[in-house]
Amino acid sequence: GYDLDKRAIQILRENSWGDYTLPTKGLYPYQWNWDSMFVALGFSEIDLDRAWTEVESLFQGQWKNGMAAHIVFRRDSPSYFPGPKVWGGTHDVPTSGCSQPPVAATIVRDLYEKNPEIGKQRLPELFPRLMRWHRWFHTMRVISGGSAIAVTHPWESGRDNSPDWDDALADVDPTGVTPYQRKDLGHVDAAMRPTNAEYDRYIKLVEYGRDCGWDHTQITREGPFAVADPGITFILMRADRDLQALAKYLDKESAVHEIDTWLYRDQIAASYLWNDEINAYSARNLRTGQHADGVSSVGFLSYYGGITKPKRDAKLQKTLSRILDAAPYSVPSFDPQHPKFDSRRYWRGPTWAIVNYLIARGLEEYGFEEKATRIRLDTRKVIQESGFFEYFDPMTGEGSGGNHFTWTAAIWLAWAS
Ligand code: DGY
Repeated sequence: GYDLDKRAIQILRENSWGDYTLPTKGLYPYQWNWDSMFVALGFSEIDLDRAWTEVESLFQGQWKNGMAAHIVFRRDSPSYFPGPKVWGGTHDVPTSGCSQPPVAATIVRDLYEKNPEIGKQRLPELFPRLMRWHRWFHTMRVISGGSAIAVTHPWESGRDNSPDWDDALADVDPTGVTPYQRKDLGHVDAAMRPTNAEYDRYIKLVEYGRDCGWDHTQITREGPFAVADPGITFILMRADRDLQALAKYLDKESAVHEIDTWLYRDQIAASYLWNDEINAYSARNLRTGQHADGVSSVGFLSYYGGITKPKRDAKLQKTLSRILDAAPYSVPSFDPQHPKFDSRRYWRGPTWAIVNYLIARGLEEYGFEEKATRIRLDTRKVIQESGFFEYFDPMTGEGSGGNHFTWTAAIWLAWAS
């Protein structure tokens, strides 16, 4: 306990650059959206004021259309590709051109409830920004008639190379992509990262967005890639409810009503994502309707998102038990019994502390305490054995990706220790 607590605090402080925090030096030398929010949660254990500042600084990268960007480029760093120039100068503060899973409102509610006196001072400024961001998702990332939230770049999901995108990504034609040099492989073993074929398509999608002036209506409706993501869909559902609680604290009645119209569509979105073939929620290619055919850990975020359907849940619990039994260090990001499982390769198998935290939080709220505890103890064990890595091999527990990783340290402080 004590030494790891100390080390976790040190990692937060070392990666903190004034009012924002790097995910890890070298590999990710800027401010990332959801990283930053987990970091705020970690800071709330030791320095609540700094936690609020982390959230506020993220929203300096918010666009006029409401989007909170996935990367805020604070200062030029040659250790990263693709930097601000590739994204094409999109905002007063340079940012990337897509978003990331919206955990912010949930974390802000946590911060508020930790100390409502401080919360009352900090929330009024942030609240309208959170509203605008959620509204952006509900208008810009929903295909008409649907309700599940689309990602238009694998980077938007935060789960870059998940098998969830394979089918849709295969339809992205990488021909003519501007020659580039990857930087990530200078920091991390190639076996733990996306492939070059995937990278060509990631960059091609960035170029498409840049060339259409980041017109997100066009990108979502007609762009080369749009997949309904159970991760973002469930995370946003949860965040909508938390945002509504915040609206009530501030007596913002019209916001409460607007959020009701978002919540109204949750059941439809969940039904759209349910996949009877694999007894789990799974991603769907919005251009073809095709479901991903494997179980990703984010499919278990339905509880966190506030969705329960007794018949479906009975099947989902069986699937979760099977997955937990298949990996000694739960929860693998992808089904270990699926042919595409790769225990070291980023989002194709490895276990992530942040996702574990979200899954367990939902399970616990719905009374699945045994599984929630198992996931928490596994998270504690893997950090104790391997350290504060970006992700972990679910079979051996071996630390993978970047080391001294801020969000893993944050989850340790807030939950796993
Ligand atoms: C990267 O560069 O690998 C990041 O995941 C993009 O967000």
